[in-house]
Amino acid sequence: MSLRVIPGDSRHARVVRPMQFTDLAAVAALEARSYTLPWSLATFHGQLARESGICLVCEDAARIVGYLVADMFVDVWHLMNLCVAEEVRREHVASRLLEAYFAVTERHGHRGHTLEVRVSNAPAIELYRSFGFVSTGVRPGYYSDDREDAVIMWKDWEGDSA
Ligand SMILES: CC(C)(COP(=O)(O)OP(=O)(O)OC[C@H]1O[C@@H](n2cnc3c(N)ncnc32)[C@H](O)[C@@H]1OP(=O)(O)O)[C@@H](O)C(=O)NCCC(=O)NCCS
Repeated sequence: MSLRVIPGDSRHARVVRPMQFTDLAAVAALEARSYTLPWSLATFHGQLARESGICLVCEDAARIVGYLVADMFVDVWHLMNLCVAEEVRREHVASRLLEAYFAVTERHGHRGHTLEVRVSNAPAIELYRSFGFVSTGVRPGYYSDDREDAVIMWKDWEGDSA
């Protein structure tokens, strides 16, 4: 999937750009700091190698401060991972990654976007709501470490049922 680089503003020299294989060590390190069930480097590698996927990073002065991974399954986009370094949260890094993601996906035919998020993850749920996702159900015990439930969210669903 192609994406032009979106330049940062004058306060922050931040750009959103496609993830490269050379980013993977930094991405996996940020992932390990951020989740109790982190993806492995191999998982990121496999995802980046997929033709159908979208993998973006937000870079600030040559440092990766956020990333987004999504993939098309059948005709639906699955937002699989979105993460921002703790020290720059609430600075709209995730919002910029999502804006870039929607700019790319709107150029491809699809029947909506879906994701799963921990029921306790209020910041992420609020973020997704602010981008038009709605909760459509719960997957009980979805997370294998503590069996927490996942909220299923959808945006722009155009099918008969979710
Ligand atoms: C969720 C996460 C990606 C948000 O990233 P972020 O860059 O801080 O988000 P943004 O600054 O773009 O926030 C945009 C909006 O989302 C909502 N939001 C984000 N964080 C929030 C928080 N802690 N509390 C309440 N609302 C929040 C707000 O509406 C915010 O807009 P505002 O700041 O103008 O009020 C980040 O907290 C994170 O990486 N968490 C750990 C990993 C994770 O849980 N990822 C999601 C997995 S499904």
